[in-house]
Amino acid sequence: PPVSLIGAPTDIGAGHRGARMGPDALRIAGLGEALAARGIDVIDRGDLSGPDNPWLPPTDGYRHLDEVVAWNRALMDAVGAELRAGRLPIVLGGDHCLGVGSITAVARHCRDTGKKLRVLWLDAHADFNTSDVTPSGNVHGMPVACLCGLGPDALVRLGGSAPAMRPDEIRQIGIRSVDPEEKRLVKDYGLDIYDMRYIDEVGMKRAMEEALEDLDDDTHLHVSFDVDFLDPSIAPGVGTTVPGGPNYREAQLVMEMIADTGRMGSLDIVELNPALDNHNGTAELAVDLVESLFGKSTLMRD
Ligand code: ARG
Ligand code: MN
Ligand code: MN
Ligand code: MN
Repeated sequence: PPVSLIGAPTDIGAGHRGARMGPDALRIAGLGEALAARGIDVIDRGDLSGPDNPWLPPTDGYRHLDEVVAWNRALMDAVGAELRAGRLPIVLGGDHCLGVGSITAVARHCRDTGKKLRVLWLDAHADFNTSDVTPSGNVHGMPVACLCGLGPDALVRLGGSAPAMRPDEIRQIGIRSVDPEEKRLVKDYGLDIYDMRYIDEVGMKRAMEEALEDLDDDTHLHVSFDVDFLDPSIAPGVGTTVPGGPNYREAQLVMEMIADTGRMGSLDIVELNPALDNHNGTAELAVDLVESLFGKSTLMRD
């Protein structure tokens, strides 16, 4: 399908400033041109606007909740409009709190069109904290919980009906940093997590086969790509690095296996922080991986 790029230049949910520069870093790394070179119809819708980051300490367990809600409302509307127009939205983040608005729009679109929803969450983190247990108050650590109905009303009910998503509609890959209380919540909600220990033991190929099994023709696959999914040795330009992530080849395999399903209907690229990057190399790597998500392959047998 045709693709629309939507910039969401904000670090409102993050613990470091700089992810607001993510959209331009991805553009400068050539994201639009790379997709166009693959024969894809690409429109860059430009950047959404929203409140500045006041950089305040948490109140009631949240930093900047009102501003987070404003950004997510704008993003939900923008993503919903692209989906209704039959286009594949690529959200250029911005921090991962944006997953709430993006996936709320995707989930609503699935309900309206009778599709099944499957979310693939590529991340070092489970992002399943609540205001009671968060170590930071940063909302980028909470979007999955919010989408599953656990969080502040303004985010949980962003799309009207709540929750946006059931825990059995998401698969998380690459997880290696979960806070102690967050781990208990993840277990209570029964999230399907392919953590790095599991990937080490069975290999990325089998982990991905399991995460992608039972997709069918009427599944809408949403990919939420937190760039800190990648090992920091290849992707230093993120605010919350965790060692021991997928290497370049493993990451390519993930993207190629997603492409092979032919089911991806929306994509978020989040947490890229150009202020922490090395000559835009992390953005360039993200573009390289997104090309693979859209079918670029090194396979000789296809
Ligand atoms: N678990 C930590 C927290 O809640 C880190 C979350 C990092 N999330 C992210 N999307 N990078 O503060
Ligand atoms: Mn994340
Ligand atoms: Mn993360
Ligand atoms: Mn590639």
